[in-house]
Amino acid sequence: MKILNKEILKNGFISLNTNEKDLNLKDEINKLKKEKNAVILAHYYVKGEIQDIADFVGDSLALSQKAAETHADIIVFVGVHFMAETAKILSPQKKVILPDLNAGCSLADSCPDNDFREFILKHPDHTVISYVNTSAKVKALTDIVCTSSNAVKIVESIPKEKQIIFGPDRNLGNYISRLTDREMVIWDGACHVHSEFSLDGILEQKKNNPDAVIIAHPECPKPILTISEFVGSTSALIKFTKENSAKTFIVATEPGVIHEMKKLSADKFFIPAPGEDAECACSECEFMKLNSIEKLYSCLKYEQPEILINEEIRKKAYIPIKRMLDLS
Ligand code: 13P
Ligand code: SF4
Repeated sequence: MKILNKEILKNGFISLNTNEKDLNLKDEINKLKKEKNAVILAHYYVKGEIQDIADFVGDSLALSQKAAETHADIIVFVGVHFMAETAKILSPQKKVILPDLNAGCSLADSCPDNDFREFILKHPDHTVISYVNTSAKVKALTDIVCTSSNAVKIVESIPKEKQIIFGPDRNLGNYISRLTDREMVIWDGACHVHSEFSLDGILEQKKNNPDAVIIAHPECPKPILTISEFVGSTSALIKFTKENSAKTFIVATEPGVIHEMKKLSADKFFIPAPGEDAECACSECEFMKLNSIEKLYSCLKYEQPEILINEEIRKKAYIPIKRMLDLS
């Protein structure tokens, strides 16, 4: 066990040994899952082949709801660290494992807890709303958590006379502020994927595909949201493409969602919006894409890397997440 821990410390995951390389890993994952009474929860941004073997695929709100209600003994969270941490906060008695500990989030990293604490102290008597894309320590400083699916509802649940701090995503914060007509003190954080879409690149795609409908996640900056015909959370975007009569969509969010969109609408076309750097696949979240079938197998087999949270922090972080779930 010590050797495994060392490997996790060094690499963030356990690599396959030579004998395991010939295994049918999907069959093995299914076997291990049954033996161990484990459930695989995956976010829509992970690779399609992982979405296909997961027990449940969802956006961050749906995944946290699943994590709260599952009867499994082990939750394998195929997503990023803050999502697995949220599952552990909600289900402390369960073992929560993440295939690769390096699967972080640039948005969560843009809000260190010590700086956020000082920010809160500078704005006393404000209600603190934090996006779920934050560390457990930031959640522990928060009054109520939100996701992109329920941010409007959460902001509207705060009495009008109360002032609000919203963190950490400035684009989502500004968008929700416009929708709800509420002034908020907004933390200056962003997601490196959503803040890097190319406005010119999207307009060029629209010129070449005039019937295509532009859709965007609210973590994108205002100029992208302004040219979008629909703005919504991951699950709202998926639902929109299923229900809308258009045949082509330009998708300004992480392109992993296109896997589900295609499943629901095989006759439609989905064009991933380009990032600023045309040379790289920068509209992909490299943290989400660290998850692989190999790492999923090894994490289920060795039940590591495991998410562990200081109990005092966990209890504090539980309160704002529970408030959100009660309102959702
Ligand atoms: P959702 O809340 O829409 O799942 O988004 C999570 C996320 O990480 C967006 O980048
Ligand atoms: Fe974080 Fe952005 Fe990746 Fe979402 S897409 S997990 S906000 S880095």
